Amino acid sequence: MVSRVIPVDPFDLVIFGGTGDLARRKILPGLYRRFLDGQMPPEARVIGAARSEMDEDGYRDFVRAAIEEFVDARRRDPERIEAFLERLGYVAIDARGTGGWQELRDRMRAGVVRAFYFSVAPALFGDLAERLHGFGIADGDSRLVVEKPFGHDLASARALNTTLAAHFNEAQIYRIDHYLGKETVQNLMAVRFANILFEPLWNAQYVDHVQITVAETVGVDGRGSYYDQSGAMRDMVQNHLMQLLCLIAMEPPNRFDPDAVRDEKLKVIRALDPVAPEDIVRGQYGAVGGQPGYREDVGNSDSRTESYVALRVHVSNWRWKGTPFYLRTGKRLRARSSEIAITFREPPHSIFGEDERWKENVLVIRLQPNEGIKLRVMIKEPGPGGMRLVNVPLDMSFAEALGEGGTDIPDAYERLIMDVIRGNQTLFMRGDEVEAAWAWTDPVIAEWVDAGSRPVSYDPGTSGPEDALMLMHRDGRRWREITP
Ligand code: BG6
Repeated sequence: MVSRVIPVDPFDLVIFGGTGDLARRKILPGLYRRFLDGQMPPEARVIGAARSEMDEDGYRDFVRAAIEEFVDARRRDPERIEAFLERLGYVAIDARGTGGWQELRDRMRAGVVRAFYFSVAPALFGDLAERLHGFGIADGDSRLVVEKPFGHDLASARALNTTLAAHFNEAQIYRIDHYLGKETVQNLMAVRFANILFEPLWNAQYVDHVQITVAETVGVDGRGSYYDQSGAMRDMVQNHLMQLLCLIAMEPPNRFDPDAVRDEKLKVIRALDPVAPEDIVRGQYGAVGGQPGYREDVGNSDSRTESYVALRVHVSNWRWKGTPFYLRTGKRLRARSSEIAITFREPPHSIFGEDERWKENVLVIRLQPNEGIKLRVMIKEPGPGGMRLVNVPLDMSFAEALGEGGTDIPDAYERLIMDVIRGNQTLFMRGDEVEAAWAWTDPVIAEWVDAGSRPVSYDPGTSGPEDALMLMHRDGRRWREITP
């Protein structure tokens, strides 16, 4: 199926941190793919801005190399790459001084959308915002894109919100959580709200429990100094897993528009119960077979930071009272596998007798890899031999369902950057949402700091610490297998 690509309006996009890792891996390759698909109009310009002195050719070489490394070979067309590079510029900028700002101002064109991507340390947000304003580069319609981590706790998130609010209003600020840009995450909303089938069952009366898993095989990958100050709770749960939970638990918004959706998500975060210490398992991967463990990876031999966390969470409202949400995420696990599984309750009465072992109906929303949605249902085992039942998946793998081209699922960043240019904030976090998420996370972390909690060790390549099994066993439930 050929996807419909509607070009966005002409824009000037300035990427602060234009030579950084995120720009190299995600933002620039993503823009190239949008260009290739005809979504980036010919008049669009991308300007890298960073500290390094570099001329425009130097920047184009940098971007060419990024495309070579991070864009699939099938989509690398030398001519198209050169055409894309022609749309790029570079300005060396001193974020804390005055160098480069006048030049940047001169580069900006009238009559096009202006967007500024802050792909830099949050400590620079204030300096950049102030200069964009002071030098008259940003106007009342300009858009600001900010990356996580959006704060380290509630106080720092509030401070960041205040800093940005001094120069930009909320309608101009796009706080990225790249999980919201993932195709299947958006599909979760389509499945829930564009079908009549699920919504009547989407509550504690019919849903036994929900599992959200984001398992990674990578370790901290050279980000040790950031990660050791953060841990899985801050790095993944406060933002990505929380957003997934919100999309499952929220009430239907009356429209798919930014404030309607974000109001509903905010209500979910505010309805979360505090998490009891016995409902949390923290883990840290150890060293095996000559491979360094977490502590060696981060260079901190006494680190108490978790590289894995599992939690049982309750959404305290009418819809979800009595349905626990189990969340887990970790690094160096058995497989890269992210999914949401909604397990429905047993039918009230079995007409087939006790011998026929019933298995749950489960709706599995697979985020990555092998994006798709599966619904496990009971059917009769084919053939003679009486009424024997079997649990099979109704499978909607996107690659198959969408046919040719269906495998070409755009990266989360591509979708989100185009939304910025379109001026659509639906898939971005509002300031109050981020603060509410920290307000829930902070006491959890404070509690284990006060208690001097140490994460339990787990072997890399496994499903995480044994203790996490207990979190579900004691409720008579079990985690789903982590499979690629
Ligand atoms: C980032 C975290 O936000 O998300 C990383 O900082 C994590 O630690 C990454 O590896 C996971 O993203 P994805 O898209 O690979 O699941």
